[in-house]
Amino acid sequence: MCGIIGYTGGDPALPLLLGGLERLEYRGYDSAGIAIIEGRKLVIEKKVGKIRELVRSLWGKPFSGKTGIGHTRWATHGAPSIKNAHPHTDSKGEFAVVHNGIIENFLDLREDLKREGVKFKSETDTEVIAHLIARSYRGDLLSAVLETVEKLKGAFAFAVITVHEPGRIVGVKQGSPLVVGIGEGENFLASDIPAILPYTRRVITLSDGEIADLTPEGVNIYDFLGNPVTKDIMIVPWDIVSAERGGFKHFMLKEIHEQPKAVGDTVRGLLSSGEVLPFSLKEFRRVILIACGTSYHAGLIGKFWFERLAGVPTEVVYASEFRYSGSPVSEEDLVIGISQSGETIDTKFAVNMAKEKGAKTVALVNVVGSSLDRESDHSVYTHAGPEIGVAATKTFTAQIAALYFLALRENPDRETLLSDLMRVPSLIEEVLEKAEDIERVAEKFMKKKNFLYLGRYLSYPIALEGALKLKEISYIHAEGYPAGEMKHGPIALIDENMPVVVVAPQDRVYEKTLSNIEEVRTRKGIVISVGFEGDERLKKVSSEFLEVPPIVEDLTPFLTVIPLQILAYYIASRLGLDVDQPRNLAKTVTVE
Ligand code: AGP
Repeated sequence: MCGIIGYTGGDPALPLLLGGLERLEYRGYDSAGIAIIEGRKLVIEKKVGKIRELVRSLWGKPFSGKTGIGHTRWATHGAPSIKNAHPHTDSKGEFAVVHNGIIENFLDLREDLKREGVKFKSETDTEVIAHLIARSYRGDLLSAVLETVEKLKGAFAFAVITVHEPGRIVGVKQGSPLVVGIGEGENFLASDIPAILPYTRRVITLSDGEIADLTPEGVNIYDFLGNPVTKDIMIVPWDIVSAERGGFKHFMLKEIHEQPKAVGDTVRGLLSSGEVLPFSLKEFRRVILIACGTSYHAGLIGKFWFERLAGVPTEVVYASEFRYSGSPVSEEDLVIGISQSGETIDTKFAVNMAKEKGAKTVALVNVVGSSLDRESDHSVYTHAGPEIGVAATKTFTAQIAALYFLALRENPDRETLLSDLMRVPSLIEEVLEKAEDIERVAEKFMKKKNFLYLGRYLSYPIALEGALKLKEISYIHAEGYPAGEMKHGPIALIDENMPVVVVAPQDRVYEKTLSNIEEVRTRKGIVISVGFEGDERLKKVSSEFLEVPPIVEDLTPFLTVIPLQILAYYIASRLGLDVDQPRNLAKTVTVE
């Protein structure tokens, strides 16, 4: 999704803006741009493509202005092009705006402005903001912004600068993320914390309906009525080293290798936070797990544990479907929103809707201070550290660790089960040591056009996750399916060209899964299996066998997902694709 950066201080803004944009690249984008106040003029540079194109186009243009804004655009309204790239300006080029999110009523606003004679230069919804602010400006940028936000509908964040007040940036948050970085004689605005981490760890996370007014001397926060708001400054526990690649070719590979730590830190964090939730899951008629993408797959695994280990009926729903489903929700329900970022708008809206209907809400997030964290009744944190690769890996295993932990709350065997969980990090290490074998398999199958992923019971969500990883970073079509359902349709796809990845640990459905493998083999499908070390039966019926150490049934997902992440990674990497920023995708999806 779009990324916003802003700087005002004593140094030239340009390098800080470009550095910030690079650190926002992971959000996904198709064009980028900056606006700087140079004397009494706005200078603007935009490029389609990567930040390096923007950097190249700025060579030989030594802008020295000390206030500026920058943007990475993920197209929603209008194709990726220079004219649609941000910043956008008013007709006289005196105000520049960068924006993330969607102005839902922009067509009406645009028509009104056109009737007043405004000529639009782009197809974006953003441009209306620049014109509205210019039209409302009477010597005070904050007042003009306050007048403008009254007219805007939707979920958005934006930042604006003007030649009339060099040194000032005003930022608005309503639905999309925006944080303020507090420096010494300089201040920052950004969509996400890593963008400003090299300069400051003192951060204010804005809430919806808040406006930040920044100058080099200070930051003031207001609500949409212009009333001052007092905010706490948070000290970010991460440092820049943990947000950099540390010798790995891609963030995704680094993050795959960080999973032992992510799981260990999450369990230790939960153990040390006393009573994680001040109530029992059993107090509720049912638990509803709401999430998107990989977080949804974590929820599917959580459901098995919640129902069997905690004895509470559990539903897992896609956030984007739940919000408009009309599903009855009440105070008898516990709703847990699972989201790495805590900013996914579908999840946030769905959880908030359930809260309005009386449900108790819990945020299971990796980002402390994120919208979902702040807006839910309670929060449970994963401690995976910043995840930069668009493909979620370490946050997935951290999420399932947290879900397992919650499921054990009142289980009579809690202590034994927790000690099994504490063994998981070292077993993941063992799987990671086999990455080279998996790279060889990746090389062999990287030219295939389709993959089928199968699993039953706890391995079914892992099959879904393996397929998602492959398609999102390698652009190869992959489908995850319950192995037992295959005979009801997808079996028709199987022939000698179809690799079928089967997740088959020795669990309660092992024999059934072996039968499904036979169904694949009979139709000449190529079986790539994931199973326990020493499982000769499985090995014998597989073209490729990716082994994980044996582990108790409930914990198999922690290990079986790892070879699938590695397989997807090496296929995409060997194909020479942009693993960390796959096309069309954004790390944090802040549009509906
Ligand atoms: C995972 O690899 C994806 N990039 C994506 O499905 C992601 O899990 C989804 O957008 C949800 O994100 P969240 O956990 O931050 O809410």
